[in-house]
Amino acid sequence: MSKVSTINRIKVAKVSDLAVGVGQRVNIAGKEIALFKQNDGIIKAILNRCPHKGGPLSEGIVSGEHVFCPLHDWKINMNDGQVQAPDIGCVKTYHVEIMKDTVFIEIN
Ligand code: FES
Repeated sequence: MSKVSTINRIKVAKVSDLAVGVGQRVNIAGKEIALFKQNDGIIKAILNRCPHKGGPLSEGIVSGEHVFCPLHDWKINMNDGQVQAPDIGCVKTYHVEIMKDTVFIEIN
């Protein structure tokens, strides 16, 4: 028997309300998610919790496709959630869709 998963697309923000390089925290379905608008206008969504000791990634410094955790400076790739060496770990990422000025993320 195959496993059935339900994907919900949820409206989380307006594109025009997001500032480039500044994280925005949103609460969706009991999860805290960090949104980031990159220099190229692409928006990324990752769990707002560092895999090290739970630092709020939405408050981190953004550099290109990476965010640096504000607590102990771990470097995390916003595309795939991978913590960069020498540290190890992964942050959950969420698929983002844009329709006009609205940002949606998919949660299952
Ligand atoms: S909690 Fe993020 S680097 Fe320590």
